[in-house]
Amino acid sequence: MTESTPGSASPIETRSFLPPARTLMGPGPSDVPPRVLAALARPTIGHLDPAFVAMMEELKELLRYAFQTSNEVTFPLSGPGSVGMEACIVNLVEPGDTVLVCRNGVFGGRMIENVRRCGGVAVVVDDEWGAPVSGDKVEAALLQHPEATIVAFVQAETSTGALTDPQPLVALAHEHDCLALVDAVTAVGGCPVKVDEWEIDAVYTGTQKCLSCPPGLSPVSFGHRALQKVRGRTNVCQSWFMDLDLQLGYWSSGSRTYHHTAPVNALYGLHEALLILREEGLEHAWSRHRRNHAAFAAGLDALGLALLGDEEHCLPQLSMVVVPGGVDEAAVRTHLLNNFGIEIGAGLGALSGRVWRVGLMGYTSRAENVFSCLGALASALAEQGISVSGGKAEEAAREALASAPGPTVMEV
Ligand SMILES: Cc1ncc(COP(=O)(O)O)c(C=O)c1O
Repeated sequence: MTESTPGSASPIETRSFLPPARTLMGPGPSDVPPRVLAALARPTIGHLDPAFVAMMEELKELLRYAFQTSNEVTFPLSGPGSVGMEACIVNLVEPGDTVLVCRNGVFGGRMIENVRRCGGVAVVVDDEWGAPVSGDKVEAALLQHPEATIVAFVQAETSTGALTDPQPLVALAHEHDCLALVDAVTAVGGCPVKVDEWEIDAVYTGTQKCLSCPPGLSPVSFGHRALQKVRGRTNVCQSWFMDLDLQLGYWSSGSRTYHHTAPVNALYGLHEALLILREEGLEHAWSRHRRNHAAFAAGLDALGLALLGDEEHCLPQLSMVVVPGGVDEAAVRTHLLNNFGIEIGAGLGALSGRVWRVGLMGYTSRAENVFSCLGALASALAEQGISVSGGKAEEAAREALASAPGPTVMEV
């Protein structure tokens, strides 16, 4: 079909969009398994249809498994991970509240911005990009700011690849009478997130990373202390859409009322993705991510490529590969996309131009993708005159897999 756009001299050709074949090995979205794609294509029904409402109850239960919680208030918000972040902050922070926000990458920075926009006072605890959040710094800041009400941090910093252990930070927050708010967007499904065991008060995630689902939903979970804070507010929540009580009018198990028209098909997709996760088992999924990461790291080493940060704090689901001196980083990404259909990510913020972000998340975390990405990187480096052996990299990855047997694929 040919149409002219008002104000434009040249007509635009429009037709059905058929996406090119890609392997999504960036920082998200990751590959979506055919079972989830099939679920998304099922007929749309009403968002208050009894059959749909029954599915919503299952979905909440499946999310409780993914978050490892029995929190009643566990449900997916309509909107990407940023909506989960904003919803947690807009409900938990009242004007004048002091919030200690840990920043060791881009996403901690966004939490600060959200706190300020809610009229809160953000006390920023900075750590180097690539390093985890320092418990010592958090403790010092808490001692200096006894008025703080919340400690907020990112468990898996997607911009730097750093993994922070939430447990000690949550314990510190509680010792100082603060709530613990955790960004687990890249964490859930790829590494342990144990909301009840670690006593996390509020947490949000995204669907497009290790849950192997398209982007656009943000599961959240609120524990009893967080709910107490929300219910004890003296000011009305600034956001109508994200007001937790209004959202729960639709998502809680009692009588449901219209709040907004839920993205019905997207919720079918999330339900299927969570079923797959439960069938696989969280322990299996975490171990699969660890093994494939170890194989990829061994292959990178054989290619002469290094990972950013120390191994202990490297995310298993997302590798920060340091761009060697003299290499055109954008040309490598273009080579991978054009010749192999592999998408990897560029560095963000302070790491822009310095790293490639290679995701082995969710359904993408498979041994075959480890091998194909290593081969593609060898080819891209060779194109820039750097002689490396893709064969040696593959051999190193195979050896790493053989030395620690376990799962490398997600059965769907
Ligand atoms: C750690 C982290 N938090 C928040 C977000 C925001 O999620 P979204 O892009 O789905 O809005 C992202 C996205 O990459 C993320 O990695």
